[in-house]
Parts: sequence; structure tokens; C-alpha cells
Amino acid sequence: MSGIRTIVTGVGAYLPERIVTNAEMAKLVDTSDEWIVERTGISQRHIAADGEYTSDLAMAAGKRAMADAGMDASDIDMVIVATATPDETFPATAVKVQAGLGITQGAAFDIQAVCSGFVYGFSVADNLIRGGMSKNVLLIGAETFSRILDWEDRTTCVLFGDGAGAVVLRGEQGAGDRGIIASKLRSDGTKHDLLYVDGGPSMTQTTGKLRMRGKDVFKHAVKNLADIVEEVFEGTDLSPSDIDWIVPHQANRRILDATARKLGISPDKVVVTVQDHGNTSAASVPLALERAVRDGRIKRGDLVLLEAMGGGFTWGASLVRW
Ligand code: UT7
Repeated sequence: MSGIRTIVTGVGAYLPERIVTNAEMAKLVDTSDEWIVERTGISQRHIAADGEYTSDLAMAAGKRAMADAGMDASDIDMVIVATATPDETFPATAVKVQAGLGITQGAAFDIQAVCSGFVYGFSVADNLIRGGMSKNVLLIGAETFSRILDWEDRTTCVLFGDGAGAVVLRGEQGAGDRGIIASKLRSDGTKHDLLYVDGGPSMTQTTGKLRMRGKDVFKHAVKNLADIVEEVFEGTDLSPSDIDWIVPHQANRRILDATARKLGISPDKVVVTVQDHGNTSAASVPLALERAVRDGRIKRGDLVLLEAMGGGFTWGASLVRW
């Protein structure tokens, strides 16, 4: 491809106002703050208000990322929304977001890879930019998982929350070693039954509820994530020991710790925000990324690794020089 590199030039995040603590969850199902914190690291989650949709969360985060990049609607020529909880079966939530943000050129589409959606979108956007089709891509991970939870199932409802995170990706010539270095995506459809939603337009004509065999997902997550991190370095002159920051999908604190341990990476280099918003699926990587950029941990020149794994199974990783 061309000598264009894909630079992350703006970040943004949005969490709905309403916070639900573990103590409140214990009033709904047979659980406790102690169990949730010990098994997952989660202390609270944000829940979208009635009438507040995935597109609203996405627009709020997207607007902030555009402002951070110093761009307005006329600069963005592609909108990608990674979501498993779209406003409607169709059209794509991205198209609603495009209109809502006043973007009238280019194209917009959704990516459905559940918790890996943002990492999938990152790789797709990089290829669109380096291939010359897009110049400035607004990539958003946005979810209202509260709408697909079975609120009587304590094994799942305590884990998830709503939120959105966004980046603006820009194509740049002569960026030196800055930008996206490599990405790797994987999926394995034989693991469908371990994490899925038991409804959909074609099968049941309903939305369905999330179902998960948590223990099995946990085991696969640690192995798949450690493997994909090794793989994303293949063909580069870098190794996991060069990583300054890992920005992982925020599903469970124990998965983050176990993956870092397997890779021999210090837990101090892992950005952890799961305590504040639970598992927000496609929104979790950009929410954590925004936090670490905003508080000054991630700085120009740092080597940053994004990684995620989710339903499908899908999983992936991207390596970026900030
Ligand atoms: O984002 C997509 C990827 N998803 C994930 O990565 C999730 C991966 N899995 C996990 O994070 C963990 O497996 C869970 C947090 C879901 C569960 O933790 P665990 O240590 O694997 O617990 P477990 O499923 O083995 O359950 C242990 C016990 C069971 O009771 P018994 O059978 O030992 O009597 C559960 O019924 O804990 C019970 N339990 C609960 N107790 C209190 C399950 N959920 C709860 C709860 N509160 N909310």
C-alpha cells in the first residue's frame, strides 16, 4: 500500500448519567458487592436513561473525539459504529450518527463483532485509510447492553453496562513510525454457544437476552488474548517487552491480570477501568483508551497495544505507536 500511516488524532468518551452500584444490584438478584468485586473487579456500571439510545451515546462520544481532533463535520468522510446493540435492526446506527453529527459526505456503517467490535473497526478503518478510500474516520464503540440483559440472571446481569468511546483516525504521509503498526483479527464460530443472545430478527423476531457460560469464556479469553498478542508482533521488529501500555477489553479484572501474567507484562502497564463501568462490550477499549490519554499516561511515542475478545468468538489486537 501507499506510505500513508493511520494516526489516532482524537479520543472521546461518554457514560450515561445513572450509576448502579453493586449494592443496588444486590437488591435485584442474589449477589453481593464482595462477590462481584472479588470475581470481576467491577464496582458499578452506568445505565442509559429511558429514551436514551446507543446512537445518543455514540454521538456524545463521537462529538468529543472530533473536538479533541480539532475537526468538524466537514472533515469526517467515514463513520463506523461498532455495536451489538443497534437502535434498530436496520438501518445501521452509524447512519443515524452520521446524520446526527451533521456529516453529509462519505459513508457510514456498523460493525458487529460484539466485544471485539472496536478492535475490528480499528483494523478496518486502518485499511480504508491506507488503501486511499478514507482520510478521516470517526470510529465509535457504543452499547446499551442493559437492554439485552436478563435482569433475573445473576451470572450475567452484574457484569455489563452501557457506554461509548470514540477515536478519530487520520491518514498521514511522512508520519515516521507513528500510527497503527499492525493488527490481527480472529474468529471461531464453533464457540457460538458459550456467549450469544437468544433472539434476533430472523430466528425469533425478538431481540433476545444475553446468555453466557462464563467459566468457559474466561478460559478461552486468557488463551486467545495471549496468543493474538504474540501474533500481532509477527513481522514487526518489536516484542511484547516493548509495550508501554496495554488497553484491553474491560470484561473482568482477573482476565486482564491473567493475560498480562501469561505474556510476562507488568500489571502496571495495563489500563484498567472495568471497576467504573463494567463490561461495556465494544465501548470498553475506547473508554479505557480515552481515560489513559486524558490522564496523561499514554504519551506521544508510546507503544500501545489494544486487544479484545467477545461473542462469536471473535478476538483481535492492534499495535499503535502513539
Ligand atoms: O466480554 C465478553 C467476554 N466475557 C467474559 O470475559 C466473561 C468471562 N467470565 C467471567 O468473567 C467469570 O467466569 C464470571 C465473572 C462470569 C464468573 O466467575 P467464576 O469465578 O468463573 O464463577 P463461577 O461461574 O464458577 O461461579 C462460582 C459460583 C457459583 O456457585 P456454586 O455453583 O459454586 O454454588 C455461581 O452460581 O458463584 C455463583 N455466582 C454468583 N454468586 C453471587 C455466579 N454469579 C454470581 C453472582 N453473585 N452474581
